[in-house]
Amino acid sequence: MIKTDPTQVEFEKWRRKNLGKVTSGLSRILNRLNVNQSAVVTGLLKAMRYSLLGGGKRIRPLLALAAAEAVGGETREALPVALAVEMIHAYSLVHDDLPAMDNDSLRRGRLTCHKLFGEATAILAGDALFTLAFETLANCGRKSLETCRRINLTLTILARAAGALGLVGGQALDLAMERRPAASPSIWPSVAEIRDMELRKTGELMAAALTGGAHLAGARPIELRRLRQIGLNLGLAFQIKDDLLNQAGDPARLGKAVGSDAVRGKATFPAVCGAIETERELNELTEKTLELTLFFKYQGRNLESLIVNLVDRQI
Ligand code: IPE
Ligand code: IPE
Ligand code: MG
Ligand code: MG
Repeated sequence: MIKTDPTQVEFEKWRRKNLGKVTSGLSRILNRLNVNQSAVVTGLLKAMRYSLLGGGKRIRPLLALAAAEAVGGETREALPVALAVEMIHAYSLVHDDLPAMDNDSLRRGRLTCHKLFGEATAILAGDALFTLAFETLANCGRKSLETCRRINLTLTILARAAGALGLVGGQALDLAMERRPAASPSIWPSVAEIRDMELRKTGELMAAALTGGAHLAGARPIELRRLRQIGLNLGLAFQIKDDLLNQAGDPARLGKAVGSDAVRGKATFPAVCGAIETERELNELTEKTLELTLFFKYQGRNLESLIVNLVDRQI
């Protein structure tokens, strides 16, 4: 008889319910924009919808909702930041795939935004998703003075994480560290430099999802500090896993190219340290992240399950 793990069953229920809320929230916001617009603006909105609603694991919004719960709040309190963070993520992928960046043709098993809509539209769709994130959060309904205060700090958290010292800076470092042509004899950046780049391009937004979600739900400063640490560790582990999958994953399941990092001479953990050492680093980081999550006891159970599932993923 096949045994089912009750914790995993409960988590799966939680995940499905909240995925539904995130998807319908995102869809509602885009629908509201698309009223009586010209053909050109409607075309732009179509590209935004393609990239925001065309699949994806929705990890960052789920992190925001799980963090609200971990600090004793309710998931609905964190929904605005969950939606905003997914918009930022979607924009970052549209731009990441552009010819001037990673030049990828496939994402989530479909053509990348610029391949389908053209480069100019993809750049503009990314820009519009980025600003829509901040509008979504700033404009999120009934506001007591306390809610306004919380929204204000959450906007700062998101803007910082996405900006020049966070995701955008990480993307700049990622491109600057490429060894082109891949076979060039120039030396790799150090492991510390790669870690810094990956923390910025992926860790900062995950940390912002957690701290933003928790802050909207009334977290205490000690909880926010703990969640930031969890987010940075998890983001690094997640990016390391992404780099391993790019080396040896299944392209059909991943829905994106495999082997492209090596072709572009990307500086990644597996490229510099080898797969075995990278797996060891990944396991260590995961242990550390799960240990940090114990702080939240039973309230942190969905956060813990999310972390375990992320690191075990094959997509
Ligand atoms: C891909 O992120 C880019 C990285 C930061 C590694 P995800 O793996 O979360 O992408 P989707 O949204 O599920 O496609
Ligand atoms: C993407 O990193 C990170 C951001 C978009 C901020 P990668 O370039 O490594 O991710 P994939 O493999 O294209 O999804
Ligand atoms: Mg990239
Ligand atoms: Mg890429």
